[in-house]
Amino acid sequence: MDDITLNALLAALAASPDNLTLRTTIVKLLLDGGKHAPALELATGDQPEILILRARALHALHDQAAALAAYEAAVRGNPTLEDRDLRAQLGTTEKVYDDDGPRLRVLSNDDTDASEVDRLLHPEPTPVTFADVGGLDEVKQQIEKRIILPFQKPALFAKFKKKAGGGILLYGPPGCGKTLLARATAGQCNATFLNVAIEDVLDMYIGESERKLHALFEKARATTPAVLFFDEIEALAGKRQYTREATSSKLVSQFLSEMDGFAKNNSGVLILAASNVPWAIDSAFRRPGRFDRVLFVPPPDRPARSSILKILLAGRPIAADIDTDALAARTSGFSGADLENLVDTAADRAIADSLKAGGEVPIGHAHLVGALGEIKPTTSEWLTTARNYARYANEGGQYDEVLEFLAKHAKK
Ligand SMILES: Nc1ncnc2c1ncn2[C@@H]1O[C@H](COP(=O)(O)OP(=O)(O)OP(=O)(O)O)[C@@H](O)[C@H]1O
Ligand SMILES: [Mg+2]
Repeated sequence: MDDITLNALLAALAASPDNLTLRTTIVKLLLDGGKHAPALELATGDQPEILILRARALHALHDQAAALAAYEAAVRGNPTLEDRDLRAQLGTTEKVYDDDGPRLRVLSNDDTDASEVDRLLHPEPTPVTFADVGGLDEVKQQIEKRIILPFQKPALFAKFKKKAGGGILLYGPPGCGKTLLARATAGQCNATFLNVAIEDVLDMYIGESERKLHALFEKARATTPAVLFFDEIEALAGKRQYTREATSSKLVSQFLSEMDGFAKNNSGVLILAASNVPWAIDSAFRRPGRFDRVLFVPPPDRPARSSILKILLAGRPIAADIDTDALAARTSGFSGADLENLVDTAADRAIADSLKAGGEVPIGHAHLVGALGEIKPTTSEWLTTARNYARYANEGGQYDEVLEFLAKHAKK
């Protein structure tokens, strides 16, 4: 750009200093031409579009702290201005080496400090509580009465010769909050949550899986109070007809004897397991002292869906017109995970609209209704299977809760 053009533009800006487009155009031209100081001088005002250019100018002039502040203010004002490359550059620190020899400027982006390493080694306990679980009031009450209370007052229960210890199995259709409930239970008891993925335990070498399993139980004993959670337990506790490897029977005995050990000496460790194929679990796991308490985690009913939607929308930019009750009425058969999917899809649509509009467009009712067309409910298939087991293989009434649920919802 030649000086004549620049002077003409500057004169135009002097005549109408409030012309934001003109101001940003000139600042951009100056920045692109390497004229950082004059650019900074003109980049005044608190509009996000100007602030982001101010950040670029300040960065070029090596004032990282001020540049970062301007960048953050700009993105707060208009999130579509987010620029990850610029942000990464602003996070660097500049080190100047000029002790001897030529001056050397080094940009370093190494922000792994000691606290980060600590965080990796001791992951912060995620404070999930019942407040984060929408609906499921009956299940929460059951957990309160049958799990948390005996866990918190073992002496009282012992006095009345109520057996503490043993494990609880949560079962129900996929995506309806079993894992979430287990986390929340740990949060409610202020206990450490130890989540065990069975795949991590299984090992091809003979004896390795048993050793790992024992180490896990030992770790739980050493970190009381703790909730030891076995997600998707059927991978371990599968009936022989369902498991392929014959070697797993050793692992099963190891698991059962660890559990029996806990039954004798309930030491502040709660054992929870979850499965969405409870009928594939060996009945040996259901004996007294083992997973003798079984809780059905049903698909969310209408009020539960409304509160799950509220939880999922919290903390996102949302419009005032969202009617979660109306959405709950239109999402029969949706699991919590389906609802999460719905909200995510609506968020995608709002982001697309934001980019199109060049400014933040919050998630509105129309985005959610539009997303309804894309998401299909997933619980009915599970319920059909479960009904067959409940009708024809309901040993000891273990699926009575499923039958109750189906009867209640058939009436509606
Ligand atoms: N009651 C609920 N309240 C709030 N969010 C829920 C609820 N149920 C499910 N969700 C949402 O759905 C996601 C999946 O739930 P979760 O992982 O607990 O399901 P699950 O029953 O363990 O499923 P799976 O059988 O597939 O393991 C959660 O991350 C959560 O965001
Ligand atoms: Mg799960």
